[in-house]
Amino acid sequence: MCGIVGYIGSKEIKNELIEGLRELEYRGYDSAGIAVMQEGNIKAFKAVGKLQNLKEKTKNFKTIGPGVGIGHTRWATHGKPTELNAHPHMGKYSYVVHNGIIENYREIKSELEKDGVQFLSQTDTEVIVHLFEKEAANAKDIKELYDAFKRTIDRLDGAYAVLLITQKAPDTIFFARKGSPMIIGRNPGGEIYFASSDAPLIGKAEEVAYMEDGTVGYATPDTIYSEPKPLAFVPLSGDKLRAQKGGFRFFMEKEIYEQYHVISDTMIGRVLDKDIAFEELSENFLEGISRIKICACGTSYHAALTSSYLFERQAKMPVNVEIASEFRYKDPLLDTDTLFIVISQSGETADTLEALKMAKSAGLKTLAICNVDNSSIVRLADTSILTRAGIEKGVASTKAFATQVMVLWMLSLFFAKRTKAIAPETVEGETSFMHQVPRVLKDALKVHEKCKRLSKRYLHGHGFFFIGRDIFYPLALEGALKLKEISYLHAEGYPAGEMKHGPIALADAELFTVALMPKTILYDKTKSNVEELSARDSTILSISPEMFELADDFILTHPHTHPMLEFFEMMVVEQLLAMEIAIRLGNDVDMPRNLAKSVTVE
Ligand code: AGP
Repeated sequence: MCGIVGYIGSKEIKNELIEGLRELEYRGYDSAGIAVMQEGNIKAFKAVGKLQNLKEKTKNFKTIGPGVGIGHTRWATHGKPTELNAHPHMGKYSYVVHNGIIENYREIKSELEKDGVQFLSQTDTEVIVHLFEKEAANAKDIKELYDAFKRTIDRLDGAYAVLLITQKAPDTIFFARKGSPMIIGRNPGGEIYFASSDAPLIGKAEEVAYMEDGTVGYATPDTIYSEPKPLAFVPLSGDKLRAQKGGFRFFMEKEIYEQYHVISDTMIGRVLDKDIAFEELSENFLEGISRIKICACGTSYHAALTSSYLFERQAKMPVNVEIASEFRYKDPLLDTDTLFIVISQSGETADTLEALKMAKSAGLKTLAICNVDNSSIVRLADTSILTRAGIEKGVASTKAFATQVMVLWMLSLFFAKRTKAIAPETVEGETSFMHQVPRVLKDALKVHEKCKRLSKRYLHGHGFFFIGRDIFYPLALEGALKLKEISYLHAEGYPAGEMKHGPIALADAELFTVALMPKTILYDKTKSNVEELSARDSTILSISPEMFELADDFILTHPHTHPMLEFFEMMVVEQLLAMEIAIRLGNDVDMPRNLAKSVTVE
């Protein structure tokens, strides 16, 4: 939701903080700010909007020699995206940055107001710094300051990753984490970094520790102290270059183009020559499992929905898919013969994480399908399958979705084989189709030029319907989500057969229908549904290997003999089309308004 960074060391502190924030900007870009302390003096800067504005504002500010600093990039939750609401928030002699939500901030705020504290912002975060200063009023040394910090943290309900600096301890950063991610990195010589994900630490810190929920502590150049247990540092590897745009206009574009590459990584060691294997899933773990429940949000939910068709069709296992934020509050009936799967790109989505906690406390076996190793979701689940998509920076998820669907397709085959729902020859046949996916994803990119040209006709109108049947219905949902999140045009995904039950009333020439018309599944049925829309004058863009005579525009896909190959090709078409429409509208495709890459609040 927001990104936070911290630094202790002798490098140019402002630069270290801003470079770190650049890696986290995808998490929120309503405002950004830093506070830098040297020899007990603190200087803070804040700017509304993207990080570039903060960079401009601080261009004449330099630090020489050792010091400490904290920084923040914000996705607004409480209070508008103004400078006053931007972090770091200050007290009389301390500054704080926070990612998460303090649920009981009103209660603390009114208590502090009674003591005469004047609040400058409308945020929940500001209570932390004032509460700390109240607790630390008589603190004389680091031990007493740390106790004051702990008392402050104990009062907070909700989710937080917090960094606090104070003039009373000029070489120290106090930290706490519950529900929101925080990673600490260190180098010999007492250089220390903090960040909300490991991306800012790659190439900066030799070793990192992924903090457990409930961690509280402080760091100085000489000590890193944490409770309830010492932090476990591990070497950090990673290639920064991989995270750059590599000549593409946007990260989203780069990520669409690297799908054929990363999907091979997803398959390595799992899709064998004629077999399927998951070393993450032991027979012991799966014993007694007869059904599956999947929880996820957004694009990950669409991947889950796609898999419900695959699991039931192939593995003959009952599958139930739920949006995590709905699941949490419906008093779900949970049985221990159910494998509880959560799907998440980031591994930090609050709703999905909470759903996972519920399933765990109900005694279910849990599996995370996730792109980020060491994320909160991966660490909490009993076992996890990493999707291996690499760092995804575009807020609109593309390669993460492709790899999630691939894992789920593989998993449905794995279960089908395990339950003997299909013959060994079928397993072999399916794996041979799986091996074709990288090529299909690569060939699909050839429509890019066509999408670019077509995009100019789809900038207006009163809305889009993406329609499809079977697995192409979740793909229609995903196409509509992609378009609306980056183009800000209204789009809905619908089952093609359901249009006649209401939505067709909207059909006229200004309604754009993007029709997913695969040849391998229910082609004639879908065709009839599209004809019904065409008869009511809707403008039709068909995506199909077959020319559809009533379409106003068409994107021809390659002929395939397996629905999943058609699925992957049409997925690329949807992504490119959404991106080209958004670019033509002049939008920042990688950082669409009002969104953040990982949603760590409910
Ligand atoms: C995808 O394009 C979206 N930005 C969003 O729906 C996302 O998929 C959702 O927030 C879930 O995130 P997760 O996969 O990291 O849990």
